[in-house]
Amino acid sequence: MTQTQGRNQCLSAEIPELSKCSVLMRERCRVEETIYNMQQTGPENLQVISDFDMTLTRFAYKGKRVPTTHNILDNRLLIDENCTKKIKKLLNTYYPIEIDARLSTEEKLPLMVEWWTKVHKLLMEQKIRKDLLAQAVRESPSKLREGYKMFFDHLAEQNVPLLIFSAGIGDVLEEVIRQNHVFHPNVNIISNYMDFDHTGVLQAFKGQLIHTFNKREGALAHAAHLTELKGRQNVLLLGDSLGDLTMADGVSNVQNTLTIGFLNDQVEERKELFLNSFDIVLVKDETLEIPNAILKNIFRTPRCSKRT
Ligand code: TMP
Ligand code: MG
Repeated sequence: MTQTQGRNQCLSAEIPELSKCSVLMRERCRVEETIYNMQQTGPENLQVISDFDMTLTRFAYKGKRVPTTHNILDNRLLIDENCTKKIKKLLNTYYPIEIDARLSTEEKLPLMVEWWTKVHKLLMEQKIRKDLLAQAVRESPSKLREGYKMFFDHLAEQNVPLLIFSAGIGDVLEEVIRQNHVFHPNVNIISNYMDFDHTGVLQAFKGQLIHTFNKREGALAHAAHLTELKGRQNVLLLGDSLGDLTMADGVSNVQNTLTIGFLNDQVEERKELFLNSFDIVLVKDETLEIPNAILKNIFRTPRCSKRT
């Protein structure tokens, strides 16, 4: 038996969750080798970069779609019925394009800019009040994935930075994790933040627009500020879109990257694309069980090195 085979056998036994039929891997050996390397260098060398909507939040619950941060704003406290209708129409037009496996990223890009720009313009016209955001989040059926508490708490306990990189709305995202009691000090967020005037009314969105397929630019622009991430050479990346794969592009000197893709929708159409792009693909898995099992393994004291 080779050293690598020996290690991999050991890891398969240590993370039995990876054998579930909803877990797909193109190169199982590479995944196990990466986890092994991450375990050897420990939590002090790890950083986690995750998308938010439909990655940390559920895709569906009890047969109904769970709202994204944009859709949480669909509350009469914040926007009127006419605006709801317009935003829904845009979602029905552009979301199928976002997940269309037949279109390239280059083809999708201008259409995503169009979608986000139209929605943000509609939101600005509604004069949304900052002081009502928390209530709208409380009243929404927004839901983090099962296992979220362990995920956030474990990373905080181990002082592992968690960068949430979202094309959603930062103010809403913050409120969701705050209300779920997991907005720990190790959490950094890159997202679209609302700009309120002195009376607390939405007047614009801050900075460069982030949509699903320009996260690379966002990553590079923000990398310099996130100094606490420097020197952490192992990256665990979670996403639900191919665009999420570029979220780690701002990290320098990466030694090991493990990418996990949640395949929530259009499963058969996108399976191959996801398998060719993410190291691990989770098919219709509404939980954080697999990331939690991998983290648990990385966080234990290295003890496989002599078992070859
Ligand atoms: P994410 O980067 O956190 O996943 O957030 C982006 C998601 O938000 C993306 O999958 C599309 C979704 N979205 C809506 O649900 N409604 C909208 O109006 C817009 C512009 C995006
Ligand atoms: Mg997402």
